Amino acid sequence: ASKTQFISTMPVGEDNVSSVKRQLTQLFEISLRETVPGEPDIVPLVDSCSEKSGVKHGDYQCNNAMVLWAKIKGKQTGFRGPPAVGQAIMKNLPPSELIESCSVAGPGFVNVVLSKNWIAQSLHRMLIDGIDTWAPRLPLKRAVVDFSSPNIAKEMHVGHLRSTIIGDTLARMLEFSHVEVLRRNHVGDWGTQFGMLIEFLFEKFPNPEEVNEAAIGDLQVFYKASKLRFDSDSEFKQRAQQAVVRLQGGEIRYRKAWKQICEISRTEFHRVYDRLGVQLEEKGESFYNPIIPSVLEELGNKGLIEESEGARVIFVDGVKIPLIVVKSDGGYNYASTDLAALWYRLNEEKAEWIIYVTDVGQQQHFDMVFKAAKRAGWLLADDSLYPKATHVGFGLVLGEDGKRFRTRNTEVVRLVDLLDEAKNRSKTAVLERDAAKDWPEEEVDKTSEAVGYGAVKYADLKNNRLSNYTFNFDQMLNDKGNTAVYLLYAHARICSIIRKSGKDIEQVKRNGKLVLDHDGERALGLHLVQFSEVVEQACTNLLPSTLCEYLYDLSDIFTKKFYSNCQVIGSAEETSRLLLCEATATVMRKCFYLLGIEPVYKI
Ligand code: ARG
Repeated sequence: ASKTQFISTMPVGEDNVSSVKRQLTQLFEISLRETVPGEPDIVPLVDSCSEKSGVKHGDYQCNNAMVLWAKIKGKQTGFRGPPAVGQAIMKNLPPSELIESCSVAGPGFVNVVLSKNWIAQSLHRMLIDGIDTWAPRLPLKRAVVDFSSPNIAKEMHVGHLRSTIIGDTLARMLEFSHVEVLRRNHVGDWGTQFGMLIEFLFEKFPNPEEVNEAAIGDLQVFYKASKLRFDSDSEFKQRAQQAVVRLQGGEIRYRKAWKQICEISRTEFHRVYDRLGVQLEEKGESFYNPIIPSVLEELGNKGLIEESEGARVIFVDGVKIPLIVVKSDGGYNYASTDLAALWYRLNEEKAEWIIYVTDVGQQQHFDMVFKAAKRAGWLLADDSLYPKATHVGFGLVLGEDGKRFRTRNTEVVRLVDLLDEAKNRSKTAVLERDAAKDWPEEEVDKTSEAVGYGAVKYADLKNNRLSNYTFNFDQMLNDKGNTAVYLLYAHARICSIIRKSGKDIEQVKRNGKLVLDHDGERALGLHLVQFSEVVEQACTNLLPSTLCEYLYDLSDIFTKKFYSNCQVIGSAEETSRLLLCEATATVMRKCFYLLGIEPVYKI
């Protein structure tokens, strides 16, 4: 019995409980060592059985038998075929309170049915100790998530909105998983456009005291006007080009103007971040500028840099064109900055995983930067090991017409306007609800924001990030279907069941007992205890959609399997079922949190 105890409650961290999948994997690991002592490298392949695949023989499955058979069949092991290997794996499983029963199916799949008492106990323990005890542990300490990263004075477009939403969720999931995350806003605050902007600023405001947001107005309009001037007046163009040199040389007047422009842009960006509740620390391109020469020197010393058509370049495997690191005019570019930033993140910030969230259009750029870093020995060739760098690409945001998303009159979509519209539309819907009739203004506002911004975020996150998605207010604000509105209301409904019971849920947690006798209760309980491994999977694959899918299934299972079959209030099982409601609401709230969505408690 003491062995069983040890295995099933093996701690991963202080208060951490490891996921069901991890615990089963450990059990199968022990079994495999026993079953085939001659094959110590066999890694257990354990997975949950998906509901969608039809017949379910169990809750989890160990899929090693077939592959293992292929490996050992010539050797003297005494087994005759994969089913026998499966039988042996099953027989050698150490006893554990997790497992109710096992069986072998087909060509040796070992099916595991979890103990419903164990599931119930795990849920109850989580309710008492808090959901953070379910946080996964990833094998790294620190990560950089480089996201949002708009360009100063140029537009912050829907692509940057996607990057902001996806990056924030990834950062939240990693943070929850005990990884220290450096949330980096790699803003484009350096480059030739500043020469033009600064000269134009000097022309418009000979007195620098007069420069402020109100006077300049929309920076994008300002940018366009300066570009027009640049393209049509060669004398201005010359001055602008000199201005770049003077700025980079550090001339005070130019630095000051540059700072003023960056500051105005920053204020604009922050209006979007504040609305979305996103935290970011800016380290823009300019930050890395001073270290570019020494980083390139290191790469040069390693023999990576070559001369090509007047430029200095790095060739990498599998790509014909080289990565240009010094332009033919001697200037640095996007790639030189990214190499310097990568060096800094690895060596100064000691990050083990560096994650870049941009549209898929930049995939080749990052592919080349990473390959150059591998040639330099900064990163390992094997991407399953840390330190590593990963590009998280995403598709386009499309309008109703299937083309790049734009609004009617302006060419680009102003993100602040977009978020305002989401809020206003959801406010209209909130006000139409009877229940909201006597809500104070403030509550209506808070709910509309939670629902409106939540809808925009969820519509983005629920898709596989690599695919394009169509931006559609009506769809994302629909209260039926796979939307944030539906999910937020599902959560509020669960909270109202608990409220209506009139019970003090904290007291129920202390004194009540959780049992999962009904099939609906068990199905819900099983899905709940899988939370940790789903978050872990979403982190490992950098796919927020995995978590969205889990959340949607959770609310589906709650409604269709549990709530429609199991009466809560007034039933003999009321106490236990209230605990199950509370566990569901708790897990839902954590999902919302990880997706950057504010929960609502009332509808
Ligand atoms: N500023 C770039 C853009 O707007 C994104 C920067 C992404 N990060 C990086 N380290 N290159 O496309």
